[in-house]
Parts: sequence; C-alpha cells; structure tokens
Amino acid sequence: MNTPAPTQDELKAQVARAALAYVEPGTIIGVGTGSTVNKFIEALADVKGTIRGAVSSSNASTERLRALGIEVFDCNDVEELGVYIDGADEIDGGGHMIKGGGAALTREKIVAAQSRRFVCIADASKRVQTLGAFALPVEVVPMATSRVIRQFAALGGVGRVRLKDGAPLVTDNGQHIVDVSGLRIEQPREFELTVSQWPGVLTVGVFAFQRAQVCLLGTPSGVETLTF
Ligand code: 5RP
Repeated sequence: MNTPAPTQDELKAQVARAALAYVEPGTIIGVGTGSTVNKFIEALADVKGTIRGAVSSSNASTERLRALGIEVFDCNDVEELGVYIDGADEIDGGGHMIKGGGAALTREKIVAAQSRRFVCIADASKRVQTLGAFALPVEVVPMATSRVIRQFAALGGVGRVRLKDGAPLVTDNGQHIVDVSGLRIEQPREFELTVSQWPGVLTVGVFAFQRAQVCLLGTPSGVETLTF
C-alpha cells in the first residue's frame, strides 16, 4: 500500500523541527510569524531551557513564546542575533522572498536585519522561479493607500487594501496593508529599493536585502536544505 503524501501542515511541522538544529544554546534567537513559525515555537518548547530567549516579530508570536515561558526581549535591548527563523510566502533561487502574508513584515524585516543569518522554513509550494504570483503585501500609512495603489497600477499591479471583519486590517504598528497582485518581480533588489522610497510606504514585502541564507524546504521526500 502506498503511503499517503504528507499534507502541507505535516511539511511545515517537518521544517519547523529541522530548524531546531540552527538554534545555538545560550543565545537569543529571532522568531518570525505565521503558521510555520507557530510549529517552530511548539518545537522550541523541547529546548527552551537551552536558550536565553527570543526577539519576536509580532504580538502574536510574542504571546505564544511567553505562553511557553520563553523570555521575549525588546529588540532595542539586543545588539545582534545569531539566527532569525521565519517562514515566507514565496522564495526564489537566490533566497529573495515575499513576506507579509501574516501582516508582520515590518517587524520581520527589522529582526531579520538584526540577525547574522536568516533561516527560512517553508513547505515546497513556496519555492518559485520568479517572485510575484503571491500578492505582494506592502505596509502603508493609511493616508497614502490610494496613492500607493495608483503607483502600483503604473507598474501593472492591482492593489487592494487588506480587510479584516469588513474594515481595513490594522497592523501591530497601527498601519494598513495593501496586497498587490499581477506583479512579476525579476529584479528583487531594485524593486525593493524603488518601492521603499515611495512616500507612505512603511515596508515592502520583498525581502531582497534581508534575504535568507538558508531555506529548509519541506518536500514529500524530506527536508531539503537550500543555501544562498
Ligand atoms: C507573516 C509572514 C509569514 O512568514 C508568511 O506569510 C508565511 O506564513 P505561513 O508560515 O503561515 O505560510 O511573512 O507576515
């Protein structure tokens, strides 16, 4: 009898456990946000006594970490982190990612920038040739959303303000998210630089400057380790 293919959830759990190998004892680690990271936080319970604590990229992850008794440090009180572990919505062959599906992209970029190594944990569906099939999240100051949507339209993208319960979603930073579909991002660094300069854009969900150095990719035949 054939064994059934692992579900997406099982692939996420596999990579989450594999990421424990990158957690160095005695250190403070960076922890991202999302369903894959939630599984990583669950796995972290087994080794929580070996780390000093974490810097978290969202209120949601902070709550989960604290519920396990893991100390969460303010980013300002920690100079450098050895490793940042987070998921992605898409990752290309150069370790560039689209992130922000969980609306935590600004804090994710900050914690990633503060870390020596970004280890991305993702199931195989996230691996793409070219970024852009997943609608690109952009965190925007509310008074600039229409203007930013028009700027994306000039690039061929269709932007929509992300809603929650019928009203614009408000991020942990008190801003809104514009999700932009229809883009093909062939030059992630140039794209990130350009959009980051538009007035009102707090963070664009392209992670080219804060790209991953390692990706643990969950595939039906096991965890593949990609290095960039
Ligand atoms: C949150 C993110 C997540 O890493 C991304 O959305 C992937 O999430 P998931 O692990 O649930 O697939 O960027 O802002």
